[in-house]
Amino acid sequence: MEKQKIIHGFSKKTRDEKLEMITKYHADPEAALELFRSFHHEDQETQKLIEEFSENTVTSFPLPYSICPNMLIDGKAYMVPMVIEESSVVAAASNSAKFWFKNGGFKTEIIGTEKVGQVHFLWNDDKDLLKLRFPELKEQLVKDCFDITENMVKRGGGITDIELKDLSDKEPGLMQLYATFETVDSMGANFINSCLEQFASTFKKWHARNNEFKKGGLEVVMSILSNFTPNCRVRCTVETTLDKLDNLVEGLSGEEFAEKFRLGVRIAEVDPHRATTHNKGIMNGVDAVVLATGNDFRAIEACSHTYASHTGNYTSLSHCEIEGNSFRFYLEMPFAIGVVGGLTNLHPLVKLSLELLGNPSAKELMGIAAAVGLANNFSAVKSLVTVGIQQGHMKMHLLNILKQLNIPEKYKDEIVEHFKDKVVSVSSVRNLAEKWELIPAAK
Ligand code: MEV
Repeated sequence: MEKQKIIHGFSKKTRDEKLEMITKYHADPEAALELFRSFHHEDQETQKLIEEFSENTVTSFPLPYSICPNMLIDGKAYMVPMVIEESSVVAAASNSAKFWFKNGGFKTEIIGTEKVGQVHFLWNDDKDLLKLRFPELKEQLVKDCFDITENMVKRGGGITDIELKDLSDKEPGLMQLYATFETVDSMGANFINSCLEQFASTFKKWHARNNEFKKGGLEVVMSILSNFTPNCRVRCTVETTLDKLDNLVEGLSGEEFAEKFRLGVRIAEVDPHRATTHNKGIMNGVDAVVLATGNDFRAIEACSHTYASHTGNYTSLSHCEIEGNSFRFYLEMPFAIGVVGGLTNLHPLVKLSLELLGNPSAKELMGIAAAVGLANNFSAVKSLVTVGIQQGHMKMHLLNILKQLNIPEKYKDEIVEHFKDKVVSVSSVRNLAEKWELIPAAK
């Protein structure tokens, strides 16, 4: 095996030096270099800004920035920006948005906005004494964070509580400071982590100067926010009468459709395999809004899936109820997102996204993202339990295949018409294009 060489100092090189280094690995270094460079922003300031969001940046990676119009949420119509690479997602959300616009729109309710952070530590000292002294420690922890919390408190947030938790039945000596925060319009990651590191420092000093405790009885392991924020949660609901669902899918009465739909959701409630895909469909819409508004989609993903398991079984984030003549479909999920801080103040397109949404509060944005998630989920389950997902999907997929095979745009309509009632695959499209002599036959 060829001996692998470690690369030193890559981060110290300029962008162009990095590009030159990596394009050596490409079959055509010149062409690769040109292509990488073609994705640099023409405005150098903007390019520099984007590069500095991360490290070792060599170019930018564009994704489609799309709009879902007609999202009627709590009586307000939004044009929602969505950043996503998967075909059909924006079309599905838009379709659903239009239907619910005419049928009462999406209603949201914020269930809570509580964020969480933990200081994990090993306690090899008198546990009862710690519990007894904890109110005094807690006061000190809050007091020492004054400089960090002052501004947040002015904005209506801050540390809301600190509890002592004992996990020593799982790991000897393991305990934690479990703190909750209100971070108002920010996601609050930096604020929370700064408070937690201050807690750790205060705790160590407090322990060291208190003669009742043993030397070395406290070992702080780590201080970090928790991305599981079940009490920072939103519920989003659509509701209508069964007659309004008549012929939503050709040939089905509202009652028939509603029952098929309810069963589709029920399967996701009881089967984790289906629940994962069902929830993925929700996250298609959610992540697209989260990305367009400069929020951390990994945090939202991690949290939503933990929340989907909070009963002990991984289950659906959305639910459907039919009561008498009423059809109700709702989603409940945690959302730790912000509209200030982080990328929100920096990325030019994020600023435009927020402006397009009317500069919402974090709570309003929770509702918007949840509504788009529910819209996508509605479209997906509607198709799955009736005509199937491939009909719509494949139409979009077909357009991608046409591009992939370099089939001229002018033949698009004809080919789409041809595949209206046929199975789409790369080879079926290639065969047709060869037969119609639109592309040279493969050798
Ligand atoms: C594809 O990105 C999403 C779906 O699989 C969601 C679902 O199955 O509900 C269509």
